[in-house]
Amino acid sequence: MTSGCSYKLNSFTILPSCIVFLVLCSTLSLASLRVGFYKSSCPSAEAIVRKAVNKAVSQNPGLGAGLIRMHFHDCFVRGCDASVLLKSTPGNPSEREHIANNPSLRGFEVIDEAKAAIEALCPQTVSCADILAFAARDSSYKLGGINYAVRVGRRDGRVSREDEVAELPPPFFNAQQLADNFARKGMSADEMVTLSGAHSIGVSHCSSFSERLYSFNATHAQDPSMDPRYAAFLKTKCPPPSANGASGGPTVALDPTPNCMDNKYYMELKKNRGLLTSDQTLMNSPSTQRMVVNNARNGGAWAAKFAKAMVHMGSLDVLTGTQGEIRRLCSVVN
Ligand code: HEM
Ligand SMILES: *[C@@H]1O[C@H](CO)[C@@H](O)[C@H](O)[C@H]1NC(C)=O
Repeated sequence: MTSGCSYKLNSFTILPSCIVFLVLCSTLSLASLRVGFYKSSCPSAEAIVRKAVNKAVSQNPGLGAGLIRMHFHDCFVRGCDASVLLKSTPGNPSEREHIANNPSLRGFEVIDEAKAAIEALCPQTVSCADILAFAARDSSYKLGGINYAVRVGRRDGRVSREDEVAELPPPFFNAQQLADNFARKGMSADEMVTLSGAHSIGVSHCSSFSERLYSFNATHAQDPSMDPRYAAFLKTKCPPPSANGASGGPTVALDPTPNCMDNKYYMELKKNRGLLTSDQTLMNSPSTQRMVVNNARNGGAWAAKFAKAMVHMGSLDVLTGTQGEIRRLCSVVN
């Protein structure tokens, strides 16, 4: 079984736009990365990552969600340079410490396992940033049947700073703020809405949305944009914000089928059942509503756009050539 979904996406609906994309991207400025970069230097690198991801995600599908999110958090902060994987050093709290990553970011051990297996075969050849890009794609394939060619040749950065994680959009942003945040990375509002579809898998800690249930604003305790029955259900899972503590409290699925990456997320938004403010706002804002409705209607088209947007996201501010380094261990600089 390839996908965590109860049905399989029809790959024929995805294929035409993939072909169009392959033609397009050779003309775009993604030129520094390419498919097959390790073909002669480490031919089994990609297969090793896929094997590690398949094994881990079979045991715990949530790790697939973690790896897709980790690639996003890497690329939006200092580019896709594996800075998200670096541990803190004395006097320098790393990205991993930031509230957006700690304690919720998961899947580090999957990257470490793949890296160890690759290092044993091809020492200091395959970057951690590329391993993470492969792992995010392999997770999309395993949980949603969404496959795409990963362009590689990234190098690993040597810097990771907790405060720079502030560049990630927080869960209370509205559609305009989210679009502005993505625009700063050169990504469109449609790509933002498309990639938010990753919230079709995985979980959120209560702390990321419990204000919506208990302390929305001066006149409404509960966010009026949330289906009251959904809010009542969430209240049985989540304590008031003050009780969440540093751990973020319990976790709740981001959509009803958290191990299956599909377009059901968008159908839920139409029913006012988006978990985060940043999810529901996509349906409730005139500027993005149409995108949500289209994605809800056409899962094949959404999946094709998702693959394309992941490739674009994976190209953000990459280090290539002689920049950076190839780490031996993904959690520390050489
Ligand atoms: C559009 C702006 C976005 C915001 C505001 C946002 C925010 C969040 C928040 C608050 C969580 C829950 C964290 C927690 O409390 O445990 C989450 C989870 C997640 N996000 Fe996003 N996110 C955004 C975009 C994305 C993108 C672009 C991707 C990937 C392409 C992504 C993938 C995920 C995944 C897979 C999870 C579940 C993680 C897990 O189960 O471990 N998100 N996001
Ligand atoms: C509270 O939120 C509602 C719904 O978004 C809004 O109409 C109202 O103006 C807000 N009230 C205050 C005091 O901010």
